[in-house]
Amino acid sequence: ESIEKGGYEHFMLKEIFEQPRSILDSMRGRMIAESNHLMMAGIREFENKFVNANRIIIVACGTSWHAGLVAEYLIEDLARIPVEVEYASEFRYRNPIINEKDIVIAISQSGETADTLAALELAKSKGATIFGICNVVGSSIARATDAGAYTHAGPEIGVASTKAFTAQVTVLTLIAMIIGSKRGTLETTKLRELMVELETIPNKVEEALKLNEQIIGISEQYKDATNFLYLGRGYNFPVALEGALKLKEISYIHAEGYPAAEMKHGPIALIDEQMPVVVIATKDSSYEKIVSNVQEVKARKGKIIAIVTEGDTTIPAMADHVIEIPETSEHLMPLLSVIPLQLLSYHIAVMRGCNVDQPRNLAKSVTVE
Ligand code: G6P
Repeated sequence: ESIEKGGYEHFMLKEIFEQPRSILDSMRGRMIAESNHLMMAGIREFENKFVNANRIIIVACGTSWHAGLVAEYLIEDLARIPVEVEYASEFRYRNPIINEKDIVIAISQSGETADTLAALELAKSKGATIFGICNVVGSSIARATDAGAYTHAGPEIGVASTKAFTAQVTVLTLIAMIIGSKRGTLETTKLRELMVELETIPNKVEEALKLNEQIIGISEQYKDATNFLYLGRGYNFPVALEGALKLKEISYIHAEGYPAAEMKHGPIALIDEQMPVVVIATKDSSYEKIVSNVQEVKARKGKIIAIVTEGDTTIPAMADHVIEIPETSEHLMPLLSVIPLQLLSYHIAVMRGCNVDQPRNLAKSVTVE
């Protein structure tokens, strides 16, 4: 087993550090910016369906559901098709309205999650086209779909998903770009820019992984906290949910992810000098708004751990801890902003003596309801 861990103390850490590679592997053959190549076999087969879709419904559970939320922002913005993201367990039991012009995308690392499989079977029976995004080749969900795209993250052993999430987001980004360009909603120049930028992401993830030492220091200070709040807006909102989920899963600290602006409708009541608040406040279209959310936390003496874009000076002036990540397009930011959150949850859990790779009560794949 120690050989399989490749010198890392846990599979989770190994998998976090594999992300530059797994993201690259998930784009390999599908996109080469230099030669303007952007292609996905599974999409090409159903290109007309995608281009003319009334609606895209994404069904998933857990971390895969968070990847689905990122895709909602991406597909609506770049391809202008309405997207709904559904918990598979809720969708399957509520007599959903689905027809032949709908595309259902099922996202699953394992390809075996019972609720996700049942949700797609239901959608299929109502005539929708089913597209799968799975990591495990030949898995039940992969076999049940009409078409799909595999993520090439390689085997993920740690129960808390890390590299599968970034691989899913990579594939979903490519899908949004492809449909957007086919539908003419994504201009060629913008598409080119995104392609060039996406190609730089593996190196930028490599940069973000260098934050490890700094994050160990921050983890030391907060390992005994009993609650955490994670805030983000726009593309970073699903990342806030994912950061909170990672912490809960492996450290057993209660954590909530929230859209930063919703904080005033509840969680703000919890903020005092004991409360660590992780704010993902990178330079994007909601930056100015999130600056004022940080001020609100500061005014209530919450401890601010801010994830910011390199070179930012406004948020660092207010935050207790500043974690700088490389600049990128807001469409691609989740691929970078999630990295420090994965590391934070990992180190806190290790310091608390938790079984990081196999947290209590959780299973890698949930094949029962
Ligand atoms: C379990 C795992 C999670 C995962 C979820 C969905 O809860 O512990 O890490 O996100 O199932 O799994 P799937 O394989 O469908 O992505």
